[in-house]
Amino acid sequence: MYNVVEKFGKLYKKSDAVILGIESSCDETAAAVVRGGREVLSSVIATQIDIHKRFGGVVPEIASRNHTLSINGVVGEALEKASLKFSDLDAIAVTYGAGLAGALLVGVSAAKAYSYANNLPLIKVNHIEGHIAANFVQFKDLTPPFTACVASGGHTSIVDVKDYNSYGLVGGTLDDAIGEAFDKVARLLGLPYPGGPNIDRLSKRGTPNINFFKTQKGVKKDLSLSYSGLKTAVVNYVHNLKQKGEEIPLENICASFTHNAVDLLCDTTVAAAENLGYDKIVLAGGVASNTYLRERLALRGKEKGFKVFYPEPVLCTDNAVMIAARAFFSAFDGVNLGGLELNAVSNLRI
Ligand code: KG4
Ligand code: ZN
Repeated sequence: MYNVVEKFGKLYKKSDAVILGIESSCDETAAAVVRGGREVLSSVIATQIDIHKRFGGVVPEIASRNHTLSINGVVGEALEKASLKFSDLDAIAVTYGAGLAGALLVGVSAAKAYSYANNLPLIKVNHIEGHIAANFVQFKDLTPPFTACVASGGHTSIVDVKDYNSYGLVGGTLDDAIGEAFDKVARLLGLPYPGGPNIDRLSKRGTPNINFFKTQKGVKKDLSLSYSGLKTAVVNYVHNLKQKGEEIPLENICASFTHNAVDLLCDTTVAAAENLGYDKIVLAGGVASNTYLRERLALRGKEKGFKVFYPEPVLCTDNAVMIAARAFFSAFDGVNLGGLELNAVSNLRI
């Protein structure tokens, strides 16, 4: 009999709950088992990067098909690595948004099936909150409240993390996400997908000596950011050089773009932290693995007296550890129970 509501109730304040997390919002099919929200028992990530590389970006339909092919194997491997069976689990957690609708649906459908077949509660997870929770795994003593900056391929959000289950959006991009800008600029420069890590690598050998804008932008009062203008400015700069037949200073463009994209994000995050008055700043999301962003935020934060946290790169990019971790804190407080009616919400917000 499928009676997960009662089982979910039993998870309330259970500090050693073992949760299987499932993530399929973009181009990684991932599953992980986490105990007590902070202890990783296993983590498996099947990436589709090589499949999408030839198209220069993620093709949604191809992503969904490949999630379908991988999901059961990835989940099986995660359980095997943890030496557990479904009957040893307390709950199943899944990302239900934001992300590509078809890709999300694969994870959501699989999670519902596993939940139903094994009579396990299903916990729904917001992907952005998941990214933030990666820090709870990395830093065992980290507790809210804090200011979080989530920088990824789909999001650039500054979040007031009041408590484990209380989030408020205080700033972020009005148009493109920062990772999207990294990927688009990389594509323009002929670098393979995903562009972010390649720009990061080349930046280290370059000098940030190019001003793409005539006037430097400052922190906005409403803590909003914009990346579409920067992307266009880099495009114009490169086209101009090409028209004049001049050499493209690849490494300097990468370094200058990175500084431009990152500096204002760091300054805006620190301004948000000053407004909120917490003593901690937490960085998360795929772009949080960027070398310069980590250094810059640590430096700017320290100057203003904040403690700055960021996870190791494998916990920054998409993974299921962060999903299981986020779900633990939902279960602990008895919120975010999903049911068989759970659907993917591609534009889910904080
Ligand atoms: O969090 P994530 O894995 O997926 C989303 O939720 O979007 O983030 C992927 C994004 C991509 O845009 C990728 O280019 C970017 O993170 N990224 C980086 C770096 N590593 C990944 N961007 C800049 N520097 C990096 N080292
Ligand atoms: Zn992500």
